[in-house]
Amino acid sequence: MQQTINFAHRGASAYCPENTMAAFRRAIELGATGIETDVQRTKDGRLVLIHDESLKRTTGDARLVKDVDYSELSALDAGSWFSDSFAGERIPLLEELLELAKDTELVINLELKNGVVPYEGIEAEVISMVQEYELGERIILSSFNHYSLVLCKEIAPEVKTGILYMEGLYQPWEYAKSIKANALHAYKYAVLPQWVQEAAGHGIAYHPFTVNDEIELERLLRFGVSGIITDYPDRLDAIMRRIERS
Ligand code: G3P
Ligand code: MG
Repeated sequence: MQQTINFAHRGASAYCPENTMAAFRRAIELGATGIETDVQRTKDGRLVLIHDESLKRTTGDARLVKDVDYSELSALDAGSWFSDSFAGERIPLLEELLELAKDTELVINLELKNGVVPYEGIEAEVISMVQEYELGERIILSSFNHYSLVLCKEIAPEVKTGILYMEGLYQPWEYAKSIKANALHAYKYAVLPQWVQEAAGHGIAYHPFTVNDEIELERLLRFGVSGIITDYPDRLDAIMRRIERS
């Protein structure tokens, strides 16, 4: 059976400021085999990795990502809010993460943050950039905006997509097939073992988020999910190793 993908949520965000190169590097050190991150676009069209539409929480700047040019955004300190020891961490460009991933076997889950700000055209831009890096099977595009996922498949049918959702949808694998998605990025409570099996029978993977509790991590692993998105890749790695040994 395929090894469950250990996705570090925004990098190793329990230990480092989320969505920074420090968090991505640490994730690898802690045993992550995948990285989940959030993609947005600056005023001058650069693709950057940041969760909130506003820069406020992680840099102190009250403006929105979409209203700031990259030259200004890249000068902001995205580390100090977390701890002084990360002062000077920047908001990374998408290409910085792809560059890091290139020589690894990491699976990269790019969440398009286009639910609030629509970022028209971002699908084609992200796809064109990931194609340049030839990461192929190792890229999964996800979004809470499912129209965007349909558009991704229209642009590049070979690119994998994951449906982000919160609720207990009825037979979500049927929905996934209807929009040609590859995976269900379900909120952790919207996952039951029989659904995981049934989805797998239809070729649809489950990648629940965001699971940090050790008991919950183990429970979902035993359900046979294909991947888990966690702030603690070290915890998931330790549980996977223990189960493997037993
Ligand atoms: O992709 C999983 C998870 O990151 C979705 O929610 O708000 O953490 O981006 P959020
Ligand atoms: Mg996310």
